[in-house]
Amino acid sequence: METKTAPDKLTTEKDFLPLHGTDYIEFYVGNAKQAAHFYKTAFGFQSLAYAGPETGVMDRASYVIRQHKLTFMLTTPIRKDNPIADHIYKHGDGVKVLALKVDDAKSAFDETTKRGGKSYMEPTTLKDDDGEVVLSGIHTYGDTVHLFVERGNYNGVFMPGFKEWKTDYNPTPTGLLYVDHCVGNVGWNQMNPWVSFYEKVMGFKNILSFDDKDISTEYSALMSKVMSNGNGFVKFPINEPAEGKKKSQVEEYLEFYNGEGVQHVAIATKDIVATVTELQKRGIEFLKIPENYYDTILDRVGKIDEDLEPLKQLGILIDRDDEGYLLQIFSKPLEDRPTLFFEIIQRKGAKSFGKGNFKALFEALEREQDARGNL
Ligand code: FE2
Repeated sequence: METKTAPDKLTTEKDFLPLHGTDYIEFYVGNAKQAAHFYKTAFGFQSLAYAGPETGVMDRASYVIRQHKLTFMLTTPIRKDNPIADHIYKHGDGVKVLALKVDDAKSAFDETTKRGGKSYMEPTTLKDDDGEVVLSGIHTYGDTVHLFVERGNYNGVFMPGFKEWKTDYNPTPTGLLYVDHCVGNVGWNQMNPWVSFYEKVMGFKNILSFDDKDISTEYSALMSKVMSNGNGFVKFPINEPAEGKKKSQVEEYLEFYNGEGVQHVAIATKDIVATVTELQKRGIEFLKIPENYYDTILDRVGKIDEDLEPLKQLGILIDRDDEGYLLQIFSKPLEDRPTLFFEIIQRKGAKSFGKGNFKALFEALEREQDARGNL
């Protein structure tokens, strides 16, 4: 059953790891130049910064792109014997770094490692003429890591080691604003250990839980717990497969990603109809929901501000909780492996994650899984 913790419980204790949201997400990819072009063209990101041999980084190329507060870094190895290449060989293209904004990267490192966080990067100060950025980091599930980014004393475009990426190719933005939440898939019996990692090591709280009765179809099931930091700017739901008649979507992910990792990044928009119309025009494919979903939807969610017809045309889902409603849609996987996908979400008061849509959504996912022969 879904269980919920009152948000006011989140603010009663002192936060030992104050976070100002997601700083950036770094993807390790087979070809960063092409990936950057894809994200710019299809999603409307703008070029921001570049690091590579031209900036003195000899083993990789990194392209940083941005739309509003959403920043992606696309990194590829350019020489042999490179751990980035090993990561891609094992996982395919995927999320390596969920970087979080902090005031004090040393304190973030000290507070998390003394609570059991495993060091990925000791506090490191990077300097150039525009000031300094301090980075530190710890490991999380799979080969994924959290970097803590302190950039209060930096005035450059991104960070030392990067130069501004200037180009005349600047596709129109699509209304993407920031990371709403970022979901991790973990292995059998691993959800609770990772929930306790986020609680103990990072001071997060479990604000919502779903069990296999909430998230199951005729064939497959999963369990999920939503972890949130104190101010609610950073939310990491954690999924684990559950026993069903057939293979669940989380199991398919674990098999193709070859371990635990980021399943989806949910991106906020203020106008989901405009955003999704534009994304579909640019070739982004979304999961198709049966049209009969819309026959009874308003009975379930009540009155909404939007016209139903465009939502139905685009396949946008609707759900309501005690505080309002939300509109959401899920892309198909962004690469050949059935691993990472995006969610586009517009919140109109609701702070939840679309529980009422789970069944329709998972049945749509299973149709895709079946077409791949993996159900
Ligand atoms: Fe989500």
